[in-house]
Formats: sequence, structure tokens, C-alpha cells
Amino acid sequence: MSFEVHPDVAEVLISADEIQDKINELSKQITEDYRSRDLLLVGVLKGAFVFMADLARGIKLPIEFDFMAVSSYGSATKSSGVVRILKDLDYEITDRDVLLVEDIIDSGLTISYLLRYLEARRPRSLEICSLFWKKGEQAVPMDVKYPGFEIPPVFVVGYGLDYDEKYRNLPYLGVLKHEASAS
Ligand code: IMP
Ligand code: MG
Repeated sequence: MSFEVHPDVAEVLISADEIQDKINELSKQITEDYRSRDLLLVGVLKGAFVFMADLARGIKLPIEFDFMAVSSYGSATKSSGVVRILKDLDYEITDRDVLLVEDIIDSGLTISYLLRYLEARRPRSLEICSLFWKKGEQAVPMDVKYPGFEIPPVFVVGYGLDYDEKYRNLPYLGVLKHEASAS
């Protein structure tokens, strides 16, 4: 099958196959770690929905799902650390084993806000699984138990990540051409 890169994409940083291989590793590890526990995946919308769908199908355990939606005030390409909750959890997480599923950690401000927010609800355990994180960009130290790929500190799209709500459905992680992100 021929593979066509979107015309707005300058470079593919991580291919669809590499992403799927990494997710297989992560879901195997999670399956081992959470045997006979009470796993609840909490996805951070919108970006994590693509990753969460693939990750969850690789976890061979009974699991449940919840989602939070947040928006961080800031420019199109940088978060400010001020997070607004657009959709809260549907379920109580007290005494549950919660795995927070994120697409990408950049400054780390969004995830550290969410960790504090969830911790206050007294889960039995709380860990992070993030598919990408940007090297050297974290403003706060991060303990990511299930990390995917370390990437350079550039703006990326695809595999759930958007620019202006577009490109989330690309199966790979790419960098946009300058013209596509100039607005
Ligand atoms: P942080 O608070 O700086 O860690 O930013 C995290 C959030 O910003 C992620 O959940 C994404 O929604 C968004 N984000 C960060 N970097 C990128 C990127 O390179 N492309 C698209 N969205 C990004
Ligand atoms: Mg976003």
C-alpha cells in the first residue's frame, strides 16, 4: 500500500509503525503491572483519544474509561499553565487504580495540574502514560511511569495532536511546513 504524507507536513518525525510498536510495548507492560487491580484509564481530551483507543485495545485486562477535557490558556502553540476544566470525570476515582493517559507533555503544566486535581480525590494509585514528551521543556519535574517517545522541542501534529483542530487523524507524528502554521 502506498503511503502518502499530508501536503502540509514538512517531515515525519515518528512513523505510524514505530508508534504502533511502542504502544504494543506500553500496553504489555501495563497489562503485567495492573493484573488483579482495578484499572481506570483517564484520557485527556481531545488529544489523547487516538492514543487511548490503541493503547486500551492492547491491554488484556478488564478496564474502564473516563475522560477529562481541559483547555489551557495560551497561544496556539504554547500552553500557559492556567488550565480550565471543560469536562470533569464522570466517576468517583477514590480507591481506584487510575492511569492518566496523555498525548504529549510539553511544559508539563497541564499534567501537573491534573495530577494535583486527581490526587485530591484519593485514588489508590495514580500514574501517567504519555506517548510523547518534549526533551528539556518541562518546567516541573515529571515522573512518567509509562513514557513513549522523547521528541525535540518543536511543534508537532498527528496521532491526536492538532494545529487549530486539524491534523489529529494523521497516523504518524509530523512537523508542519512553515506556510501551514503561519496564520
Ligand atoms: P503542557 O501543559 O505545556 O505540557 O502542554 C500540554 C498540552 O499542550 C498537550 O496536551 C497538547 O494538547 C498541547 N501541546 C503541547 N505541545 C504540542 C504540540 O507540539 N502539538 C500539538 N499540541 C501540543
Ligand atoms: Mg491541543
